[in-house]
Amino acid sequence: MQDAARAFQQYLESLQLAGVSHIPSSEVVAVAEVPVAAEPTSAATMTVALPPTPAPKEKPAEQTPVANTSLFAAPPSSGEPSDLPLDQRQEQLAQVAQAVSACTRCQQLASTRRQTVFGVGNPEAKIMFIGEAPGADEDRQGEPFVGRAGQLLNRIIGACKLARDDIYICNILRCRPPGNRNPTPEEATNCREYLDAQIRIVDPDYIVCWGSVAAQNLLDVTDSVGRMRGKFFKYGRAKVSCTYHPSYLLRNESAKKYVWDDMKWLFADMGVDLTG
Ligand code: URA
Repeated sequence: MQDAARAFQQYLESLQLAGVSHIPSSEVVAVAEVPVAAEPTSAATMTVALPPTPAPKEKPAEQTPVANTSLFAAPPSSGEPSDLPLDQRQEQLAQVAQAVSACTRCQQLASTRRQTVFGVGNPEAKIMFIGEAPGADEDRQGEPFVGRAGQLLNRIIGACKLARDDIYICNILRCRPPGNRNPTPEEATNCREYLDAQIRIVDPDYIVCWGSVAAQNLLDVTDSVGRMRGKFFKYGRAKVSCTYHPSYLLRNESAKKYVWDDMKWLFADMGVDLTG
């Protein structure tokens, strides 16, 4: 250590002899111990001023795909109609569908489903149909309303002079409850963000709730379909109507006429006469 001090003293003296009276402090920005070969056999160290060392460049963080959280931000608003172009609606629905396909919020449903059943149809539809939950056929095919109830729904759509592709169709739940039991309130809550995202993206003028599970969950009411038919409710910007579920119609033929009345009434509100 004494050798180092002596070496440093000599270094300063040599600077003085060379006319250096002071070392500007701004240049002494980094100090390091560097080995100096004072004698051939022993290594001494000397403290010297080093030029500024550039700060190490930070490695950019790995880009991990994150869900577009704005898609799940809030319930649909009651403001102006959406002017989102078709391609962006498709893109956003695809992002939500991808999040849904990996969803494990409902442990039982996630472990018993074959696949999630997101929704189908026109991303710019004026009418959205909401059912209860996928059944066995939907769980197998990954599309809502493809079983017997779905075939009846298709006939109802045809009677309304529309095609299935004109409408957007989804459910309160995106996974099949085992044995087709009713969704639990917790399951409906878990899935609500996805439903709200679909409603916000498609932004329909009208929503039809098929059956009491859809109506009660969407509107947070306990009334029966019988009491809710023939009235418009509001969800965000959409006018919501409620009618009997196609599965109920398969068991109760006589209720078909009520559903047809509900369709005529709904379409009349849209300015479409279905009576002719
Ligand atoms: N019933 C529903 O409520 N939804 C479907 O997708 C199928 C049957």
